[in-house]
Amino acid sequence: MAVQMMRRGGGGRVTGRIERDRDQAHSQGGDGGHGALAGARLAFVGAGVMAESMIAGLLGRGMIDPERIVASHPREDRRRKLTQRFGIGAVEGNREAASDADLVLLTVKPQVLSGVMRQLHGRLEPRQVAVSVVAGAGIGTLSRGLGHDAIVRVMPNTPAQVGQGMSVWTSTPEVDEGQRNRVRVVLAALGEELWVEEEKYVDMATALSGTGPTYVFLMMEALIDAGVHMGFPRRIAEQIVLQTVAGSVAFARDSGKHMAELRNMVTSPGGTSAEAIYQMEKGGLRTVFSRAVYAAYQRTQALGREESGKEEG
Ligand SMILES: NC(=O)c1ccc[n+]([C@@H]2O[C@H](COP(=O)([O-])OP(=O)(O)OC[C@H]3O[C@@H](n4cnc5c(N)ncnc54)[C@H](OP(=O)(O)O)[C@@H]3O)[C@@H](O)[C@H]2O)c1
Repeated sequence: MAVQMMRRGGGGRVTGRIERDRDQAHSQGGDGGHGALAGARLAFVGAGVMAESMIAGLLGRGMIDPERIVASHPREDRRRKLTQRFGIGAVEGNREAASDADLVLLTVKPQVLSGVMRQLHGRLEPRQVAVSVVAGAGIGTLSRGLGHDAIVRVMPNTPAQVGQGMSVWTSTPEVDEGQRNRVRVVLAALGEELWVEEEKYVDMATALSGTGPTYVFLMMEALIDAGVHMGFPRRIAEQIVLQTVAGSVAFARDSGKHMAELRNMVTSPGGTSAEAIYQMEKGGLRTVFSRAVYAAYQRTQALGREESGKEEG
Protein backbone atom coordinates (compact mmCIF):
# COMPACT_ATOMS: atom_id res chain seq x y z
CA MET A 1 0.00 0.00 0.00
CA ALA A 2 1.28 3.46 -0.95
CA VAL A 3 1.11 4.90 2.55
CA GLN A 4 3.59 2.27 3.75
CA MET A 5 6.07 3.68 1.26
CA MET A 6 6.12 7.06 3.02
CA ARG A 7 9.34 7.94 4.75
CA ARG A 8 9.40 10.23 7.68
CA GLY A 9 12.06 12.89 7.86
CA GLY A 10 14.09 12.71 11.00
CA GLY A 11 11.28 11.02 12.96
CA GLY A 12 10.10 12.27 16.34
CA ARG A 13 10.83 15.71 17.58
CA VAL A 14 12.18 18.55 15.52
CA THR A 15 14.95 19.42 17.95
CA GLY A 16 16.30 15.85 17.85
CA ARG A 17 16.57 16.02 14.09
CA ILE A 18 18.22 19.43 14.07
CA GLU A 19 20.89 18.16 16.46
CA ARG A 20 21.46 15.09 14.29
CA ASP A 21 21.68 17.21 11.13
CA ARG A 22 24.15 19.55 12.77
CA ASP A 23 26.29 16.62 13.98
CA GLN A 24 26.17 15.13 10.51
CA ALA A 25 27.13 18.48 8.99
CA HIS A 26 30.09 18.88 11.28
CA SER A 27 31.30 15.32 10.99
CA GLN A 28 31.10 15.09 7.20
CA GLY A 29 32.34 18.50 6.08
CA GLY A 30 32.40 18.85 2.31
CA ASP A 31 32.87 21.03 -0.69
CA GLY A 32 31.05 24.16 0.45
CA GLY A 33 28.13 22.08 1.65
CA HIS A 34 27.75 19.37 4.25
CA GLY A 35 26.41 15.85 4.36
CA ALA A 36 23.75 15.40 1.69
CA LEU A 37 24.32 18.96 0.49
CA ALA A 38 28.06 18.53 -0.09
CA GLY A 39 28.94 20.26 -3.33
CA ALA A 40 25.35 21.32 -4.00
CA ARG A 41 24.25 24.71 -5.30
CA LEU A 42 20.80 26.05 -4.47
CA ALA A 43 18.82 28.71 -6.31
CA PHE A 44 15.75 30.39 -4.84
CA VAL A 45 13.58 31.84 -7.56
CA GLY A 46 11.56 34.53 -5.77
CA ALA A 47 13.08 35.24 -2.37
CA GLY A 48 10.22 36.17 -0.03
CA VAL A 49 9.03 34.74 3.29
CA MET A 50 9.29 31.04 2.44
CA ALA A 51 12.71 31.31 0.77
CA GLU A 52 14.03 33.36 3.68
CA SER A 53 12.83 30.73 6.19
CA MET A 54 14.67 28.02 4.25
CA ILE A 55 17.85 30.06 3.82
CA ALA A 56 17.90 31.05 7.52
CA GLY A 57 17.27 27.43 8.56
CA LEU A 58 19.98 26.00 6.32
CA LEU A 59 22.62 28.57 7.23
CA GLY A 60 21.65 28.51 10.92
CA ARG A 61 22.26 24.76 10.99
CA GLY A 62 25.50 25.08 9.06
CA MET A 63 24.16 22.78 6.33
CA ILE A 64 25.59 24.78 3.44
CA ASP A 65 27.91 27.73 2.87
CA PRO A 66 26.25 31.01 1.79
CA GLU A 67 28.36 31.19 -1.40
CA ARG A 68 26.49 28.13 -2.64
CA ILE A 69 23.11 29.85 -2.45
CA VAL A 70 21.77 32.34 -4.96
CA ALA A 71 18.38 34.05 -4.90
CA SER A 72 16.63 36.01 -7.62
CA HIS A 73 14.44 38.98 -6.89
CA PRO A 74 13.07 41.76 -9.10
CA ARG A 75 13.65 44.47 -6.44
CA GLU A 76 17.14 45.84 -5.83
CA ASP A 77 16.47 46.73 -2.16
CA ARG A 78 15.39 43.18 -1.44
CA ARG A 79 18.49 41.75 -3.16
CA ARG A 80 20.72 44.03 -1.09
CA LYS A 81 18.98 42.97 2.12
CA LEU A 82 19.44 39.28 1.30
CA THR A 83 23.13 39.73 0.55
CA GLN A 84 23.71 41.80 3.69
CA ARG A 85 21.78 39.49 6.00
CA PHE A 86 22.91 36.10 4.70
CA GLY A 87 25.98 36.67 2.53
CA ILE A 88 24.31 34.77 -0.31
CA GLY A 89 24.34 35.76 -3.98
CA ALA A 90 21.37 37.77 -5.22
CA VAL A 91 20.56 38.45 -8.87
CA GLU A 92 17.72 40.05 -10.77
CA GLY A 93 17.18 37.38 -13.41
CA ASN A 94 15.44 34.11 -12.62
CA ARG A 95 17.25 32.36 -15.47
CA GLU A 96 20.61 33.54 -14.23
CA ALA A 97 19.86 32.28 -10.71
CA ALA A 98 18.72 28.87 -11.94
CA SER A 99 21.47 28.32 -14.49
CA ASP A 100 24.10 26.76 -12.23
CA ALA A 101 21.98 25.25 -9.44
CA ASP A 102 21.46 21.61 -8.54
CA LEU A 103 18.16 22.42 -6.82
CA VAL A 104 16.05 25.21 -8.30
CA LEU A 105 13.52 26.20 -5.67
CA LEU A 106 10.41 27.90 -6.98
CA THR A 107 9.36 30.10 -4.08
CA VAL A 108 7.14 32.62 -5.84
CA LYS A 109 3.43 33.28 -5.30
CA PRO A 110 1.00 31.22 -7.40
CA GLN A 111 -0.04 34.33 -9.44
CA VAL A 112 3.44 34.80 -10.91
CA LEU A 113 4.32 31.12 -11.32
CA SER A 114 3.25 30.80 -14.97
CA GLY A 115 5.37 33.82 -15.97
CA VAL A 116 8.37 32.45 -14.08
CA MET A 117 7.92 29.03 -15.68
CA ARG A 118 7.83 30.62 -19.13
CA GLN A 119 11.19 32.24 -18.39
CA LEU A 120 12.69 28.93 -17.30
CA HIS A 121 11.01 26.73 -19.92
CA GLY A 122 13.54 24.38 -21.50
CA ARG A 123 16.42 26.01 -19.61
CA LEU A 124 16.90 23.36 -16.92
CA GLU A 125 19.30 20.49 -17.56
CA PRO A 126 18.27 16.91 -16.71
CA ARG A 127 20.65 16.90 -13.68
CA GLN A 128 18.80 19.86 -12.14
CA VAL A 129 15.78 19.36 -9.89
CA ALA A 130 12.96 21.90 -9.76
CA VAL A 131 11.47 22.08 -6.26
CA SER A 132 8.16 23.92 -6.02
CA VAL A 133 6.54 25.04 -2.78
CA VAL A 134 3.82 26.89 -4.69
CA ALA A 135 0.41 25.97 -3.28
CA GLY A 136 -1.90 24.32 -5.80
CA ALA A 137 0.66 23.84 -8.59
CA GLY A 138 0.53 20.16 -9.58
CA ILE A 139 3.42 18.14 -10.96
CA GLY A 140 1.80 18.04 -14.43
CA THR A 141 1.52 21.84 -14.52
CA LEU A 142 5.10 22.27 -13.28
CA SER A 143 6.55 19.71 -15.65
CA ARG A 144 4.79 21.12 -18.72
CA GLY A 145 5.40 24.72 -17.65
CA LEU A 146 9.13 24.16 -17.21
CA GLY A 147 9.59 21.60 -19.98
CA HIS A 148 11.39 19.52 -17.36
CA ASP A 149 10.94 16.07 -15.83
CA ALA A 150 12.81 16.13 -12.51
CA ILE A 151 10.22 17.77 -10.28
CA VAL A 152 9.59 17.92 -6.54
CA ARG A 153 6.29 19.28 -5.27
CA VAL A 154 6.16 20.37 -1.64
CA MET A 155 3.27 21.45 0.55
CA PRO A 156 4.77 23.36 3.48
CA ASN A 157 2.77 25.29 6.09
CA THR A 158 3.15 28.61 7.87
CA PRO A 159 4.86 27.36 11.08
CA ALA A 160 7.81 26.77 8.71
CA GLN A 161 8.52 30.44 9.36
CA VAL A 162 9.64 29.50 12.89
CA GLY A 163 11.26 26.19 11.91
CA GLN A 164 8.24 24.18 13.08
CA GLY A 165 6.63 23.46 9.74
CA MET A 166 5.19 20.27 8.32
CA SER A 167 6.26 19.79 4.70
CA VAL A 168 4.71 16.93 2.76
CA TRP A 169 6.36 16.28 -0.59
CA THR A 170 6.58 13.98 -3.55
CA SER A 171 8.90 13.63 -6.52
CA THR A 172 8.86 12.34 -10.07
CA PRO A 173 10.79 9.13 -10.91
CA GLU A 174 13.48 11.30 -12.58
CA VAL A 175 14.56 12.54 -9.13
CA ASP A 176 17.07 9.98 -7.83
CA GLU A 177 17.81 8.93 -4.27
CA GLY A 178 20.77 11.33 -3.86
CA GLN A 179 18.70 14.27 -5.11
CA ARG A 180 15.84 13.31 -2.80
CA ASN A 181 18.26 13.30 0.12
CA ARG A 182 19.31 16.83 -0.79
CA VAL A 183 15.69 17.96 -0.91
CA ARG A 184 15.08 16.27 2.43
CA VAL A 185 17.87 18.28 4.08
CA VAL A 186 16.60 21.54 2.58
CA LEU A 187 13.04 20.89 3.78
CA ALA A 188 14.26 19.85 7.23
CA ALA A 189 15.34 23.49 7.58
CA LEU A 190 11.62 24.31 7.79
CA GLY A 191 10.71 21.68 10.41
CA GLU A 192 9.47 18.15 9.77
CA GLU A 193 9.29 16.70 6.27
CA LEU A 194 7.53 13.66 4.93
CA TRP A 195 8.00 12.12 1.50
CA VAL A 196 4.91 10.49 -0.02
CA GLU A 197 4.86 8.23 -3.01
CA GLU A 198 1.77 9.62 -4.71
CA GLU A 199 0.79 13.20 -5.48
CA LYS A 200 -2.74 12.69 -4.16
CA TYR A 201 -1.25 12.64 -0.64
CA VAL A 202 0.19 16.12 -1.24
CA ASP A 203 -3.34 17.29 -2.09
CA MET A 204 -4.61 15.64 1.09
CA ALA A 205 -1.81 17.30 3.08
CA THR A 206 -2.82 20.65 1.59
CA ALA A 207 -6.16 20.18 3.39
CA LEU A 208 -4.71 18.74 6.61
CA SER A 209 -1.34 20.40 7.28
CA GLY A 210 -1.22 23.22 4.70
CA THR A 211 -4.60 24.51 5.83
CA GLY A 212 -4.06 23.00 9.29
CA PRO A 213 -2.86 26.11 11.13
CA THR A 214 -6.18 27.76 10.21
CA TYR A 215 -8.16 25.11 12.10
CA VAL A 216 -5.86 25.38 15.10
CA PHE A 217 -5.86 29.20 15.15
CA LEU A 218 -9.66 29.32 14.91
CA MET A 219 -9.96 26.78 17.72
CA MET A 220 -7.52 28.77 19.87
CA GLU A 221 -9.33 32.02 19.12
CA ALA A 222 -12.62 30.44 20.19
CA LEU A 223 -11.06 29.17 23.42
CA ILE A 224 -9.54 32.59 24.18
CA ASP A 225 -12.92 34.23 23.58
CA ALA A 226 -14.51 31.70 25.91
CA GLY A 227 -11.92 32.62 28.55
CA VAL A 228 -12.71 36.31 28.12
CA HIS A 229 -16.45 35.51 28.31
CA MET A 230 -15.86 33.91 31.72
CA GLY A 231 -13.99 36.99 32.93
CA PHE A 232 -10.27 36.53 32.18
CA PRO A 233 -8.42 39.53 30.72
CA ARG A 234 -7.60 38.69 27.05
CA ARG A 235 -3.84 38.65 27.59
CA ILE A 236 -4.18 36.11 30.40
CA ALA A 237 -6.63 33.98 28.38
CA GLU A 238 -4.12 33.99 25.48
CA GLN A 239 -1.26 32.87 27.69
CA ILE A 240 -3.36 30.06 29.19
CA VAL A 241 -4.61 28.81 25.80
CA LEU A 242 -1.24 28.99 24.01
CA GLN A 243 0.51 26.98 26.72
CA THR A 244 -2.38 24.52 27.01
CA VAL A 245 -2.16 23.80 23.27
CA ALA A 246 1.67 23.66 23.22
CA GLY A 247 1.72 21.46 26.34
CA SER A 248 -0.95 19.12 24.96
CA VAL A 249 1.05 18.65 21.73
CA ALA A 250 4.23 17.92 23.70
CA PHE A 251 2.37 15.49 25.98
CA ALA A 252 0.69 13.68 23.08
CA ARG A 253 4.05 13.30 21.28
CA ASP A 254 5.90 12.20 24.38
CA SER A 255 3.35 9.64 25.57
CA GLY A 256 2.64 8.20 22.10
CA LYS A 257 -0.86 7.38 23.37
CA HIS A 258 -4.05 7.54 21.28
CA MET A 259 -5.82 10.91 21.60
CA ALA A 260 -8.94 9.25 23.06
CA GLU A 261 -6.81 7.61 25.75
CA LEU A 262 -5.24 10.94 26.69
CA ARG A 263 -8.69 12.49 26.82
CA ASN A 264 -10.06 9.63 28.96
CA MET A 265 -7.23 10.16 31.45
CA VAL A 266 -8.72 13.54 32.41
CA THR A 267 -12.39 12.61 32.06
CA SER A 268 -13.66 11.61 35.49
CA PRO A 269 -17.25 10.48 35.97
CA GLY A 270 -19.60 13.43 36.18
CA GLY A 271 -16.63 15.81 35.97
CA THR A 272 -15.86 18.98 34.03
CA SER A 273 -14.27 17.26 30.98
CA ALA A 274 -17.27 14.89 30.65
CA GLU A 275 -19.59 17.90 30.66
CA ALA A 276 -17.48 19.77 28.09
CA ILE A 277 -17.16 16.72 25.82
CA TYR A 278 -20.94 16.23 25.90
CA GLN A 279 -21.44 19.81 24.69
CA MET A 280 -18.78 19.55 21.96
CA GLU A 281 -20.27 16.30 20.60
CA LYS A 282 -23.79 17.75 20.82
CA GLY A 283 -22.59 20.75 18.82
CA GLY A 284 -21.12 18.43 16.16
CA LEU A 285 -17.52 19.68 16.59
CA ARG A 286 -16.01 16.42 15.32
CA THR A 287 -18.25 16.48 12.23
CA VAL A 288 -17.45 20.15 11.60
CA PHE A 289 -13.71 19.38 11.57
CA SER A 290 -14.21 16.41 9.29
CA ARG A 291 -16.35 18.43 6.88
CA ALA A 292 -13.95 21.38 6.94
CA VAL A 293 -10.93 19.22 6.07
CA TYR A 294 -12.81 17.37 3.35
CA ALA A 295 -14.10 20.65 1.87
CA ALA A 296 -10.52 21.98 1.81
CA TYR A 297 -9.42 18.78 0.05
CA GLN A 298 -12.12 19.12 -2.60
CA ARG A 299 -11.20 22.79 -3.07
CA THR A 300 -7.54 21.81 -3.54
CA GLN A 301 -8.53 19.35 -6.27
CA ALA A 302 -10.80 21.91 -7.95
CA LEU A 303 -8.05 24.57 -7.93
CA GLY A 304 -5.65 22.03 -9.42
CA ARG A 305 -8.13 21.32 -12.24
CA GLU A 306 -8.58 25.08 -12.82
CA GLU A 307 -4.79 25.50 -13.10
CA SER A 308 -4.53 22.68 -15.67
CA GLY A 309 -7.49 24.18 -17.55
CA LYS A 310 -5.81 27.61 -17.68
CA GLU A 311 -2.70 26.00 -19.06
CA GLU A 312 -4.63 24.23 -21.82
CA GLY A 313 -6.86 27.24 -22.57
N1 LIG B 1 4.58 31.67 3.59
C1 LIG B 1 4.21 30.47 3.96
O1 LIG B 1 4.22 30.12 5.15
C2 LIG B 1 3.78 29.44 2.91
C3 LIG B 1 3.16 28.25 3.33
C4 LIG B 1 2.80 27.31 2.38
C5 LIG B 1 3.08 27.53 1.03
N2 LIG B 1 3.68 28.70 0.66
C6 LIG B 1 3.94 28.91 -0.75
O2 LIG B 1 5.23 29.47 -0.91
C7 LIG B 1 5.22 30.36 -2.04
C8 LIG B 1 5.91 31.63 -1.63
O3 LIG B 1 5.19 32.22 -0.57
P1 LIG B 1 5.78 33.40 0.29
O4 LIG B 1 4.91 33.54 1.48
O5 LIG B 1 7.24 33.18 0.47
O6 LIG B 1 5.53 34.61 -0.73
P2 LIG B 1 6.31 36.00 -0.82
O7 LIG B 1 6.82 36.40 0.52
O8 LIG B 1 5.44 36.95 -1.58
O9 LIG B 1 7.59 35.63 -1.71
C9 LIG B 1 7.59 35.63 -3.11
C10 LIG B 1 8.65 36.63 -3.57
O10 LIG B 1 8.76 36.55 -4.98
C11 LIG B 1 8.95 37.88 -5.47
N3 LIG B 1 8.56 37.96 -6.88
C12 LIG B 1 7.44 38.52 -7.44
N4 LIG B 1 7.46 38.37 -8.78
C13 LIG B 1 8.60 37.68 -9.07
C14 LIG B 1 9.19 37.22 -10.28
N5 LIG B 1 8.59 37.39 -11.46
N6 LIG B 1 10.37 36.57 -10.22
C15 LIG B 1 10.99 36.35 -9.02
N7 LIG B 1 10.48 36.77 -7.85
C16 LIG B 1 9.30 37.42 -7.87
C17 LIG B 1 8.08 38.71 -4.58
O11 LIG B 1 8.47 40.06 -4.68
P3 LIG B 1 7.47 41.24 -4.21
O12 LIG B 1 7.43 41.16 -2.73
O13 LIG B 1 8.13 42.46 -4.72
O14 LIG B 1 6.15 40.94 -4.84
C18 LIG B 1 8.30 38.07 -3.22
O15 LIG B 1 9.41 38.64 -2.54
C19 LIG B 1 3.77 30.58 -2.43
O16 LIG B 1 3.52 30.01 -3.69
C20 LIG B 1 2.96 29.89 -1.37
O17 LIG B 1 1.88 29.16 -1.95
C21 LIG B 1 4.03 29.66 1.57
